[in-house]
Amino acid sequence: MKFQKNTEEQYQAYRLKNYGAPSLTIVKGENEKVWDDQGNEYLDFVTGIATASLGHCHPSLVKAIHDQANKLIHVSNLYQMQPQGNLCEALVSRAGPGGLFFCNSGAEASETLIKLSRLFGNKKSTSENPSNKVIVFNNGFHGRTFGGMSATPQEKIQQGFFPMLNNFPVAQLNDIESVEALADDDTVAIFVEPIQGEGGIHVASDSFLQNLRQFCTEKGLLLLLDEVQSGTGRTGTFFAHESAGIKPDAIGMAKGLGGGFPIGAVWVSEAYADLFTPGSHGSTFGGNPMACAAALAVLETIEKENLLQRVCNLSRTWIEQLNNLAEKYESLIEIRGRGFLIGMDFSEDPTAIQNDLQSQGLLTVRAGGNILRLLPPLTVPEKSLHQSIEIIDAALAQHASLATTH
Ligand SMILES: Cc1ncc(COP(=O)(O)O)c(C=O)c1O
Repeated sequence: MKFQKNTEEQYQAYRLKNYGAPSLTIVKGENEKVWDDQGNEYLDFVTGIATASLGHCHPSLVKAIHDQANKLIHVSNLYQMQPQGNLCEALVSRAGPGGLFFCNSGAEASETLIKLSRLFGNKKSTSENPSNKVIVFNNGFHGRTFGGMSATPQEKIQQGFFPMLNNFPVAQLNDIESVEALADDDTVAIFVEPIQGEGGIHVASDSFLQNLRQFCTEKGLLLLLDEVQSGTGRTGTFFAHESAGIKPDAIGMAKGLGGGFPIGAVWVSEAYADLFTPGSHGSTFGGNPMACAAALAVLETIEKENLLQRVCNLSRTWIEQLNNLAEKYESLIEIRGRGFLIGMDFSEDPTAIQNDLQSQGLLTVRAGGNILRLLPPLTVPEKSLHQSIEIIDAALAQHASLATTH
């Protein structure tokens, strides 16, 4: 095929404007590094928004995708597929006894959790208007489908798309009383990210998650965890909620699970696994052998390379160094997060700082508020973490001196 325009022209001419205009054309990646079409090298601390968990082109992931492509690419859920069976077993061994549903994205995982809450409410109630309230949280983010958006109490996400689905009352993160005040007879579930990603890296404390677990158990509500961003080892445990020692009723996953290959998944605990009955939910591509082979390679590599321990060890020093920068520069108010899911909270709009970091070779991604997120791959070499500190230090020093000369 012959093309008349270059990539930038094609984007400008033919792409819908739902994304801002990207500033780089990325052509190649290797572990924590990517290169643009001008040959410039960057430390990629965006990783496809917390997705390339093994970095770029990890040999085990490449081999798994390659081998699977030579065997079977797609048949749909009309048939059994070995990679999907194996992935179910591998995820049950991580999450506990229960069942899996596979989809293609985080939004579909959220949608599935919301549908689970409806099945739960419909089963419990004999009335024409079954209970269906799902308590969500300020600064939460659950995706761009209607269920996901409705569960996302952020004006910039919902604007222009009204009406939303009803009955997603909003409680305050880390405030159990705000949850208790909202819960009534129509409430069926609580839906929460253990660490809010898009909303600005706000960590749900272990004690808050424990209180939510206890409250759900006492009131007979489902505790639904959205681990789309925080899962697959990013915080140094396979799921972020493990630090609280709780067992949720269902978990949504996506992003890092496929290491960059699209896959979403929902684990439902044994007690509620039979709510989905044949024909009640589905996805043509969900659990496709390519995606499952990729996810299996990610899980195997996490184990083989001891990546959870690695994230814990390396992130400790790195976060300490980031905190030192927060003490050194007034503009950097706070470092939040855990492991390799980190937010730098600035006193003002960090666009100029983000651009400087990029031109000095460090890619970051915005989150809600004045936050820049740092999301290195679980495989990032220690020296690249040090290098990121040097780049941030230099950029903040330059901005501080600019601020004093103005
Ligand atoms: C916590 C959480 N849930 C759901 C989603 C939606 O995932 P996707 O973009 O794959 O639909 C995201 C994406 O950022 C997320 O961070």
